[in-house]
Amino acid sequence: MSELSRREFLGTTAAGIVGSSAIPAPDVVANQSPPAPVSAPRTAIRLIVNGRERDVEVEDRWTLAEMLRDHLQLTGTKVGCDRGECGACTVLLDGAPIYSCSYLAVWAASRSVETVEGLAAGAQLHPVQQAFIDHDAPQGGFCTSGQLMSAKALLAATPRPTADQARAALTGNLCRCSNYNHYVEAVVAAGASSSIVPESGRGDGQ
Ligand code: FES
Repeated sequence: MSELSRREFLGTTAAGIVGSSAIPAPDVVANQSPPAPVSAPRTAIRLIVNGRERDVEVEDRWTLAEMLRDHLQLTGTKVGCDRGECGACTVLLDGAPIYSCSYLAVWAASRSVETVEGLAAGAQLHPVQQAFIDHDAPQGGFCTSGQLMSAKALLAATPRPTADQARAALTGNLCRCSNYNHYVEAVVAAGASSSIVPESGRGDGQ
């Protein structure tokens, strides 16, 4: 190996310093501003929520669940999986159950949305809510509002459902507590109840 002269050594080291100075130090990189948030297009929509007309300017990327929970403060609608699998976010759209985590808010323009907040008429619980209490249907409770909305849609179409019909109607509402038998019993019992609350008597629960 040839011996490196002092002059050659200093020249090589200086070149290395110049080269490495082109690489930003870690703290310089960390202090760089994050990219500016991209503003999403917005659309003004009018819809009915729990019997009340609402005007909302929604970002086109908002889900219906996001609009209800974060912008209308209707937090009774829960978000479990956020990907259309568990049913915790079930609300009624023109009377039919849908997963609100998988439905864009902007699509709900000119339509009617019902959430769990709209079930009771003041202090008077909807029969299916009362039946859930009477039959110990809620356990953890996180999936309950979605189950109630599916049950409400069933009872509107089939006022006296059988256990099999209740099971089929709530098949899209998963319960990690596995309290299925109790809430099927509750839905059947609610069908047998004669104290149905008129639609016009329901508010938005706010
Ligand atoms: S949160 Fe919507 S289906 Fe699970």
